[in-house]
Amino acid sequence: MLPLLVASLVPLAMAQQFQLARNYSGQGFFDPWNYKVGNDALDIQGEKGNGGNVNFTDQAFAQQQNLTSVNAAGHVVIKVDDFTSAAPNGTYGRNTVLMYSKDTISSGSLVIMDAVHIPFGCSVWPAFWTLGLGIPWPSKGEIDIIENVNLATNNQYSLHTLDGCSHPAQGQVNQTGNVVTTNCFINATGQAHNEGCLVSDTDLSYGAKFAQNGGGAFATLWDEDGIQIWFFTRSLVPADMATGNPNPSAWGPPTAFWPVSTCNTAQFFGQQTLILETNVCGEFTVDVFNQTCSSTGKQCTDLSWCSSVSLGFKVIAGVWQ
Ligand SMILES: *[C@@H]1O[C@H](CO)[C@@H](O)[C@H](O)[C@H]1NC(C)=O
Ligand SMILES: *[C@@H]1O[C@H](CO)[C@@H](O)[C@H](O)[C@H]1NC(C)=O
Ligand SMILES: *[C@@H]1O[C@H](CO)[C@@H](O)[C@H](O)[C@H]1NC(C)=O
Ligand SMILES: *[C@@H]1O[C@H](CO)[C@@H](O)[C@H](O)[C@H]1NC(C)=O
Ligand SMILES: *[C@@H]1O[C@H](CO)[C@@H](O)[C@H](O)[C@H]1NC(C)=O
Ligand SMILES: *[C@@H]1O[C@H](CO)[C@@H](O)[C@H](O)[C@H]1NC(C)=O
Ligand SMILES: *[C@@H]1O[C@H](CO)[C@@H](O)[C@H](O)[C@H]1NC(C)=O
Repeated sequence: MLPLLVASLVPLAMAQQFQLARNYSGQGFFDPWNYKVGNDALDIQGEKGNGGNVNFTDQAFAQQQNLTSVNAAGHVVIKVDDFTSAAPNGTYGRNTVLMYSKDTISSGSLVIMDAVHIPFGCSVWPAFWTLGLGIPWPSKGEIDIIENVNLATNNQYSLHTLDGCSHPAQGQVNQTGNVVTTNCFINATGQAHNEGCLVSDTDLSYGAKFAQNGGGAFATLWDEDGIQIWFFTRSLVPADMATGNPNPSAWGPPTAFWPVSTCNTAQFFGQQTLILETNVCGEFTVDVFNQTCSSTGKQCTDLSWCSSVSLGFKVIAGVWQ
């Protein structure tokens, strides 16, 4: 993974002004997080998990197994075990890492995740997302910033909420991404269970092409206008993104935009915890495995090929407020 940065928003008359609040990078990247430990039967709040074939490890074990490291370029690397013998039996397949931030973000925050590589391949489910703690899920909302599975070629952005929050129809909001579904309610009729309100991006945003192009940066701004996410492929990343004072108002329309006019974020979202993980199989990945991986002639949970797929995040990230 690349850097993760978080900033706080200080609204001024002419431009948005942010100051760097947290800089997740280098050796210090790994400390301001909690690590989920154990299998994927339950989530971090003790509710039903995603059923992945994984053993989420603690920080010390991940470091000792070299699942987490910092490379010569200073990029944080977070990868999945691809060297032990995988047991394709649904209870344990691969050691991996799910980190959730000790700090939360609230309205008035900008989160930038810059990555040169995101894991991809059959059976692989990478995600960088935020969750409002509070049960039952998703009573405090969920924002999915990086997420897709298997050999999908496009990143997808989505919100997951209780009933009453939606994304405008295609063409009704100033964004460059494509609307897939509009209802953010997890039990919306006419949408797959927990599909959320999805916006899809180009094939530079995920998988092999993302990596071939040197990756890129994802910026998530949550403020009084709503929630906006920008993706820039490497050559187009705005120069001010890596500085202490990024200015989203100069970046052009976002890739995905959920305006407050159709989603009252103050009602549907509480303070958000950042989550970074790579899952292996699990419900989403299994359900759509045949869409992109049927030519393997295998099932998702046959993990024997995990040593040949691309399993590492390389990231730098931060938060501005
Ligand atoms: C699962 O992870 C824990 C560390 O959190 C480790 O002690 C344990 O050995 C792992 N299990 C396997 C089967 O590797
Ligand atoms: C640990 O993993 C990193 C990133 O993949 C790699 O560059 C490094 O060589 C590995 N270190 C060891 C001791 O295997
Ligand atoms: C699955 O594999 C793990 C690791 O080899 C083993 O500990 C566990 O007992 C197996 N579970 C089943 C149901 O076979
Ligand atoms: C969504 O539907 C499931 C049943 O499929 C139910 O258990 C759950 O409580 C519902 N959640 C909400 C927020 O309505
Ligand atoms: C974050 O920390 C890294 C490592 O010290 C540094 O190179 C980078 O410039 C910092 N980012 C910002 C926005 O200050
Ligand atoms: C869309 O956003 C761009 C840049 O943020 C702005 O220049 C343009 O006027 C907006 N268009 C509409 C229809 O709001
Ligand atoms: C995927 O395809 C395999 C055969 O290639 C089939 O056995 C399996 O039922 C399919 N899975 C789904 C979820 O459609």
